[in-house]
Order: sequence, then C-alpha cells, then structure tokens
Amino acid sequence: MRILTRKGKITEFKSAAVVVPYFEDVKELQGTVKLLDEETGGMIKDIIATGDFKGTLNQVSVLYTRGLIPAKRIVLAGVGKKSDLTMEKLRCVFATAAKHVRSLTLKEFSTSLDFIESKESIEHTVQAVVEGAVLGLYQYTNYKTVDKDKKGDPKEFTIVEEREDVCEIIRSAAESVEIVTKAVFFARDMVSAPGNEMTPTAMAGEARKIAARKNVKLRVLDERKLRKIGMNALLGVAKGSAEPARFIILEYSGDVKAERPVALVGKGLTFDSGGISIKPAEKMEEMKSDMAGGAAVMGAIMAAADLRLPVNIVGLIPATENLPGGRAYKPGDILRSLSGKTIEIISTDAEGRLILADALTYAERFKPVAIIDLATLTGACVIALGDLAIGMLGTDKELKNKLRDAAEKTGERVWELPLWEDYHELIKSDVADFKNTGGRPGGAITAAAFLSKFIGKSPWVHLDIAGPAWLTKDRSYIPKGATGIGVRLLVQFLKDWQKKD
Ligand code: BES
Ligand code: MN
Ligand code: ZN
Repeated sequence: MRILTRKGKITEFKSAAVVVPYFEDVKELQGTVKLLDEETGGMIKDIIATGDFKGTLNQVSVLYTRGLIPAKRIVLAGVGKKSDLTMEKLRCVFATAAKHVRSLTLKEFSTSLDFIESKESIEHTVQAVVEGAVLGLYQYTNYKTVDKDKKGDPKEFTIVEEREDVCEIIRSAAESVEIVTKAVFFARDMVSAPGNEMTPTAMAGEARKIAARKNVKLRVLDERKLRKIGMNALLGVAKGSAEPARFIILEYSGDVKAERPVALVGKGLTFDSGGISIKPAEKMEEMKSDMAGGAAVMGAIMAAADLRLPVNIVGLIPATENLPGGRAYKPGDILRSLSGKTIEIISTDAEGRLILADALTYAERFKPVAIIDLATLTGACVIALGDLAIGMLGTDKELKNKLRDAAEKTGERVWELPLWEDYHELIKSDVADFKNTGGRPGGAITAAAFLSKFIGKSPWVHLDIAGPAWLTKDRSYIPKGATGIGVRLLVQFLKDWQKKD
C-alpha cells in the first residue's frame, strides 16, 4: 500500500472512504469532524444522537455521503477519551479502520490529521497512524494457491493536509514508516515461512538480499569454517540435522567516525523439535518461528541501512535446526564452546543458549559499544509475561533504559526480570563449567544467567521474545502468527542511540 500526502481540504477530497478519528468525550464537534458534519447535513451529529456510534476505542461506523461531499464514505473511527490518547491506541484505531476498509474491498482510503495540536507530535502521530494501517493489513499468503482468501488490499492511503509546512513533515515521516514497515514484513515473512524452506542456508540467502544495499557487507561461515574456529556449541546443536548450520554476519556502516559497532545477535533456530529431549507433538509446528530473533536482527539492519542511520551495526545470526538424528547431540554430552568454556548438556531442548553462547563470544571480537541479543529462548518467559511483553535481562542499566524508552515509543514492550548472582548457582555443573539448564523455576532467568557467562566487558542486554514473537489470536495491528517483534524496537533504539539524554 502506497502512502500519499496531498495538500488540500478533506471536505473537497475525492476518496472511497475518509477515516475520521472521533473522540468519545467531545462535547462539541471541531475541525474536520465539524466540517464534514456540516457538509453532509448533520450526518455525524445524527449517528451520535441515535447512540449507534459513541467513539469508544476501536468502534467503527460507516456513513454514506450520497454525493454531498466528494468522498463516498465517512468511516468514523472511535479513539476513546481525548485525555487518554496514546500512540499505541492510534496504531490500533487505524489498523481497525484499515481492515474495515479492506472488508469493503475499497481500493483506496484517506484521512486528515488535524486533531493533532502540537507540531512536535505530528511526526509521532503520522508514525502511529501509518504503522497501524500498514501493519494491520499484513497477510501471509505465499503458499496459498487455491481459495486465496487474501482480500484485495487497499492500494493507497492518502493523508490530506491543508498546511504546506505540515505536509512536508508528514511526507518525510511517512517515508520512514514505509521503510520500517517493509522491514517488519520482511521479518514476519521469514518467520511465517515453513521450516523446510526457511533453512539456515535460506536465511543466509535472505541476508544476501539485505547486503545488496550500499554500506552493508555480508559474511556467511559454513560448517568447515565453524569447525576451524571452534564454534562447537553451534555445531553440537546442528549435528542431529542434515541441514548444514550457518553463521551469518551482516555489517552496516552508517557512521565512519565511530568505529565500534552496536552488536545485534539473533537466535536463528529454523526448526526446534527439541532434539533427543524431544518436544510434545502438540503445537510443535509453531517451532518454525524459533528464528524470530534472527529475523528481527536482519529486519532492523535492513531498515537501518535504508534509513541511512548514522550508526555502525554488526548483526550476528547463528542458524541451525535442532533435530534428533543419528548423530544428534545427547543429554550428558559436553560441548567445548568457542570461548573455551565447557558446557554439560542436560536437555538438548535448551539449544538456543548454546548457539547464542558462541555468537556472543564472537560478538566480542568487534569490541562493540553494546550487545543486544534477541531470542525465542524460553517457555518460562511465556509463562511469566504472556505474549504482551519481551523479557529483558542484562548487565547495563543505561542500555536497559534506552531499550525501555524505545519500547515505550513503539509499543514493543519490555519488562525486566532480575539477574541476581544467586541464580548463577543453578547452572553450575559437576563435570563441566556450566550446564545448559537450571531447572524449571526461574527458567527465563537461568537461561540469561547462562548467556552472561559468554559476555566479556561489553554492556549487554538479552531480550527473550518467546512470547510476543508468535500470536495465536489476531491483535489490532498484529495479525495472528509471526509478529516481526523486535524490528521496530531495535530501529527506534538505533535512531535514538546517539541522542544525548
Ligand atoms: N525455542 C524454545 C523456547 C520457546 C518455547 C519459544 C515456547 C517459544 C515458545 C527453546 O529452545 C526451549 O525449548 N526452551 C526450553 C528450555 C528448557 C529445556 C530448559 C523451554 O523453555 O522449555
Ligand atoms: Mn528448544
Ligand atoms: Zn528453541
């Protein structure tokens, strides 16, 4: 869907549908709503008077304008109380409205954002409105050949604005949202893709598409190279599968002066059966999404490069399957990781932390200013936070605060869990340096404690995205299935990275 900005009056704009945000607590109509009401002979006042439309959050009503104005329909979109307005609510409202427009099979729709009072908030409002409309319309239909139920998407969404200077702000904000939403779709598509297609090799192929951009370099380490450098934790997990592992290194240089990069590490487990410690069959198909961290890192780098953000980034994605083959690693095995530290395997299903251990060790080679890893790491995190928040653990206060700020702005919320010393006791092994599980209690925390053993001096934060990476029910601007979580969070974090606080 293309996002257009047009200078003019919404009451004079020809469109199949004009979406009009409506606050539930307005006493007297104002601005666009008032104008549209007057031009249509009081249609809006009428529907309010009947009580059929109140303006509560996400309520939608369609009015047919019968030639009174050039726009055929007015789509009233309830936003709730004006004093409670948040960007997150706007995202939801515009997603709901856009999906309604799609259900009417309209090819195009428009809106006016004159309810924004301050100029500073225009950029954020456009971001929320466009993100909501675009992200909400996502459908994954790559493998549908019969009964394609993909409804024809609207092709254009126009923001109509009278003020010339505001038009400019809207234009540039919309352009950057288009870049970011494209990256979110890229990540969602990768995560939605089936395991037989989205193999470690295929992930490296997707990385190659990103590396077609200026200032992005790609290196892919194959198994021979991985053996040579000693990435035995990653190789250990890969042993049970006939699909060869890959280690993907994407480097974006957007800032020539600052040499040290931000390191983003993403779990790229293209299918997690649990291995010899095999998972129950029920819902096992969802484990194709176990590379969502890797997809988020790739999406973020793609967006950063397209936005030409002034920051250097290195993205590291250990990619493999976890299967119970004849050569599969087993409980009781001991792996010698890239760091030299030894790991006793208690469960082959705690594989994410193993491949991340090697990736984190490797990340330190870049002397990064920060390391952020994203992983669908533990079921325990899903139990703790559900699918509404990312579990955040780490060693650096400032980095955590920056991620919290980015989370607040994007609605990709993070919630901190503690990483106290006491938890580290639980992953001590009798025979090796560490064991790969610490038991069920505090599972998200002991997993992070394990990861911390492979961090050197760099400020580090771990984001457990196991919950929000995959939804089993539609949410306004996130259709069920792959969410692309982490892309918007990371991009916002990278945008704000150099800003002084
Ligand atoms: N990929 C899973 C975690 C997961 C579970 C992600 C549910 C999304 C939804 C991870 O590899 C795993 O299996 N973790 C185990 C660890 C345990 C054996 C210590 C878990 O959480 O059960
Ligand atoms: Mn697992
Ligand atoms: Zn896993």
